[in-house]
Amino acid sequence: MSGPLVLAFETSCDETAIAVVRGRTVLSNLLSSQVEMHARFGGVVPEVAARAHVEAIRSLTHQALGEAGVHPDDLDAVAATRGPGLVGALLVGYSFAKAMAWSRDLPFIGVDHMEGHLYAPRLEFEEFRPPAVVLLASGGHSQVVLMEGWGEYRVLGQTIDDAAGEAFDKLARFMGLGFPGGPAIDALSETGDPEAIRFPRALPHRRYDFSFSGLKTSVVTRLEKAWAAGTLPAAEDAAASIQEAIVDVLVQKTMNAVEDQGVEIVGGGGGVLANRRLRQRLEEEAHRRGVAMFLPSPIMCTDNGAMIGAAGSYRLERGETTPWTTGVDSSMVIGG
Ligand code: KG4
Ligand code: ZN
Repeated sequence: MSGPLVLAFETSCDETAIAVVRGRTVLSNLLSSQVEMHARFGGVVPEVAARAHVEAIRSLTHQALGEAGVHPDDLDAVAATRGPGLVGALLVGYSFAKAMAWSRDLPFIGVDHMEGHLYAPRLEFEEFRPPAVVLLASGGHSQVVLMEGWGEYRVLGQTIDDAAGEAFDKLARFMGLGFPGGPAIDALSETGDPEAIRFPRALPHRRYDFSFSGLKTSVVTRLEKAWAAGTLPAAEDAAASIQEAIVDVLVQKTMNAVEDQGVEIVGGGGGVLANRRLRQRLEEEAHRRGVAMFLPSPIMCTDNGAMIGAAGSYRLERGETTPWTTGVDSSMVIGG
């Protein structure tokens, strides 16, 4: 085990996530999920999220340190997500982490949430390293990123409207499948026919960009018409067809980048990468092209503290710390 000992906080959305890492070794990685609190509202309520972080953060910090067998005096630094995310939610983890660092005279590192997702494959695969193409797909972002070096990123393409996770969530809500929608569509699709309905694949002529708002309109129109005509397809078939349309585009644009950039290493991060069909298709297409695909385990794809610790640890090793006067940045852009 080598590298700095970092306590890391992730509170950008609806999970209070705290981890202790040493370099790329995870010593503890805990999560207090708010999913049930938000489910009855059909989505994340920012004020509810911030309050729940306040309630969970102190005892979860104790647990994370305890499970890692680490005393706060042993820490080399404290890291926290600085953005992007919900401002109130971000402020809870960021301020708590900053206060902890300040009170112990430790360096503090504010981490870009999406950079955290980029570092998730590094936690589980020693062979994952730049140059690499990484597909990032979460509830708020969908990007194809060229990692030219650690800390050096070029966003090759991104969504021009909804993120992939947002499309899953909105369409699941429309189908009455609850929140969060991605896991619900993933589960329902297992017994469905992905070819049952051919939904449109947007922006075929753009190499790396995505668009998912047209899919949403198409699904709503098709299903409402079918309902009126009494020809509503089985929910499993509709779910599998929606999933296939989203997955197809994500895989295609990632592979365009792999081919154009000539990289041999590909990674993934963000909650949507927990999707079983997406994982299967990415593995198949990578295999076909003879490139190595590094997909973190599903719990490392969704939001977690360890990925923030890994990115923070890398920044600390480069001597980069965040000034005390720096606040959260809810619309932070990777590489920006
Ligand atoms: O990265 P993440 O945990 O949080 C954000 O940074 O947004 O991603 C959450 C998103 C949600 O939209 C959720 O529906 C989606 O990831 N998601 C999935 C699956 N698990 C989570 N989407 C498709 N299939 C899944 N199995
Ligand atoms: Zn995320």
